[in-house]
Amino acid sequence: MYDKILTSLSYGMCAVGVKGATAPNACIVNTVIQISSYPMTVAVSINHSNYTNECIKRSGEFTVSVLSENTSGAVIGALGFTSGRDGNKLDNVRHKILREGAPVIQEDICCWFLCRVVHHVETVTHTIFIAEPVAGSEVIKGTPMTYEFYKNVIKGKSPKYAPTYIPEEEEYAEKFACTICSYEYSSLLIPFEELPPSWVCPICGAPKSVFRKIE
Ligand SMILES: Cc1cc2nc3c(=O)[nH]c(=O)nc-3n(C[C@H](O)[C@H](O)[C@H](O)COP(=O)(O)O)c2cc1C
Repeated sequence: MYDKILTSLSYGMCAVGVKGATAPNACIVNTVIQISSYPMTVAVSINHSNYTNECIKRSGEFTVSVLSENTSGAVIGALGFTSGRDGNKLDNVRHKILREGAPVIQEDICCWFLCRVVHHVETVTHTIFIAEPVAGSEVIKGTPMTYEFYKNVIKGKSPKYAPTYIPEEEEYAEKFACTICSYEYSSLLIPFEELPPSWVCPICGAPKSVFRKIE
């Protein structure tokens, strides 16, 4: 079997918000799926190493903010590449906090909903939380961001604890670092030289010209 066969699957980009031990926290996911409409049920896969995992287990609740194509890459950078264990990731991300203590992102999202966990299943690396939406937006605004849009238009990457992370890509591709925020770009599919001149750092928005090759 082709070892990258799962890259053919389609996903949507969301932020999962949780009530943390001391402050609200959120992380980027691409694994929220609809299980059924009646009763309304969803599932999300969260890596055991992510702080969000223990927060969901503690509170039994989480929010889902569905990102739109207008949600900035900086929001994904802030929530998807650092852990709530190391500080408050929401400091520079507009959000509101629900009565239940979990945050909803307010950066050009399409919609949000609050979920109550009804069941969870452990795999070797992830917990699959099965949950029922109990409240949420009245309308859906804009176009939801797909993982493909994130990868091919924003040129974003997946960190180690994302289900779509592929170690080989990191290992063999040439690496280029942003001299402003240290974000590292490496891709065998789209080498750095082939990125258009208009491409900007997905984390801090700096132009392609500030990137330097890592020897
Ligand atoms: C595009 C993208 C998709 C991701 N998808 C998931 C996911 O589905 N499940 C997961 O556990 N982590 C996923 N991650 C990784 C987490 O967002 C990341 O590990 C985050 O730092 C965890 O933060 P926390 O420790 O505060 O929970 C994804 C990250 C990115 C950038």
